[in-house]
Amino acid sequence: MSQQKSLRVGFLGFGTVGSGVFRMLQDNYAAVTDRIGFPVEIVKIGIRDLSKSRDVDQSLLTDDLESIVNDPSIDVVLELIGGIDPAEKLVETALLNKKSVVTANKELMAKQGSRLVHLAKEGQLDLHFEAAVGGGIPLIQPIKHQLSGNDVLKLIGILNGTCNYILTRMDLEGSDLAEVLKDAQALGFAEADPTNDVEGFDTLYKLAVLTAIAYGKLPDVSGIYRQGISGLKSEEFKYAEILGYKIKLLGIVEPVADGKVLARVHPTFVPLSHPISSVNGVNNAVWLHGDFVGDIMFSGKGAGGDPTASAVVGDLIDVGRNMAANGPGSAIPFGVGLETESINELSSGYYLRIRVNDQPKVLGEIAMVFGEQEVSLSAMEMKVLDPLAKVGEIVFLTHKCKEKNFQQAITELKKLASVRSIEAFLRVEDDRL
Ligand SMILES: NC(=O)c1ccc[n+]([C@@H]2O[C@H](COP(=O)([O-])OP(=O)(O)OC[C@H]3O[C@@H](n4cnc5c(N)ncnc54)[C@H](OP(=O)(O)O)[C@@H]3O)[C@@H](O)[C@H]2O)c1
Repeated sequence: MSQQKSLRVGFLGFGTVGSGVFRMLQDNYAAVTDRIGFPVEIVKIGIRDLSKSRDVDQSLLTDDLESIVNDPSIDVVLELIGGIDPAEKLVETALLNKKSVVTANKELMAKQGSRLVHLAKEGQLDLHFEAAVGGGIPLIQPIKHQLSGNDVLKLIGILNGTCNYILTRMDLEGSDLAEVLKDAQALGFAEADPTNDVEGFDTLYKLAVLTAIAYGKLPDVSGIYRQGISGLKSEEFKYAEILGYKIKLLGIVEPVADGKVLARVHPTFVPLSHPISSVNGVNNAVWLHGDFVGDIMFSGKGAGGDPTASAVVGDLIDVGRNMAANGPGSAIPFGVGLETESINELSSGYYLRIRVNDQPKVLGEIAMVFGEQEVSLSAMEMKVLDPLAKVGEIVFLTHKCKEKNFQQAITELKKLASVRSIEAFLRVEDDRL
């Protein structure tokens, strides 16, 4: 055992997560001390704006965050700022100064994780980031440890609570996205600038981190296909219900040929029989299929100060225990250069909604286009929208086909005089197709 008297901690950031961690360390002081073997001592708290009122001993606060990562008396730094700048430089300096780091920053780990993990390994330090994906849900550690003997044949995640909240309400209420988003912002479930969530960036960063954990190497984020939920219309939810599906923004990764993975983020039709279809509201979930464990799903609160603090404090306790045992924890497999396959090579079912002229031979022309592209149909719904203007709507569900064939079929459909518009298409995650 080391002769450590306390685990001296510096906070970088004291917002939703930082203040949650602070409260948890105070409320659960005895339990945390007991689990580490010595107490946690909060030495400094770095923030941007000193004039904000905070319920904390003012002498702990500083807006000089460099002074924290350069303070030789601090053992471990909690990076709870977010984003790349200044978080990246601060984490790097902390590691170079022989401090272990706990971070909740998915963007930093998705873009710079390999380099930072390498730095931590070189310094025989811990770099933990359980809170970066799925907030309070234990994901990184179980995938890294208990499931690590498996080949992960597919991993599917609902990784963004804001989007899941919006999609759940669109489904229940039949409302438009703009309406629900406005409400979500008023209720504090969506940021004033929702781009990161709604356009799928947040999900993409988290998927990149999970991919690195499940497959041992980090893919370049530019190799992950991304489509957000901003284009979704309420009609798709009506047809999803008729066809027996829910619509979820999913991050999906699976191994394909030549050691590559195909990783993608997009709104998806999910059959009601899939457990992830019933994950609603702000909840997150990760479902995976391992070759020996079979299907397994983790779910719970993916965000919020308290659940996220739970993951950060768990990581901090790990750092403390490792320090007590005089050594870092087992290295996280986080290499670099995992190759990604293009979305064009995806084999998937598809949902397609089009507007057509309500006239003879339309279906025959459309069927011909599908046939030429080897796209076969599993289900179809048709209705007349406007009998006077002779406008009809057709919805198709395809069997699995290649993305590039499906896209080519759309290109050809647009050329048909009888097709007025392509209203929507979504990928369908359904093994029955
Ligand atoms: N919120 C969640 O539910 C959640 C869940 C999982 C993971 N995370 C991750 O946790 C991290 C923190 O998120 P959060 O929601 O707690 O953010 P937040 O509420 O916006 O807090 C950010 C903190 O960082 C400080 N900060 C920001 N920019 C700074 C700068 N340039 N220099 C110095 N300090 C700066 C802010 O200082 P001021 O207080 O002075 O403004 C604030 O204390 C992020 O990586 C986020 O992705 C959050």
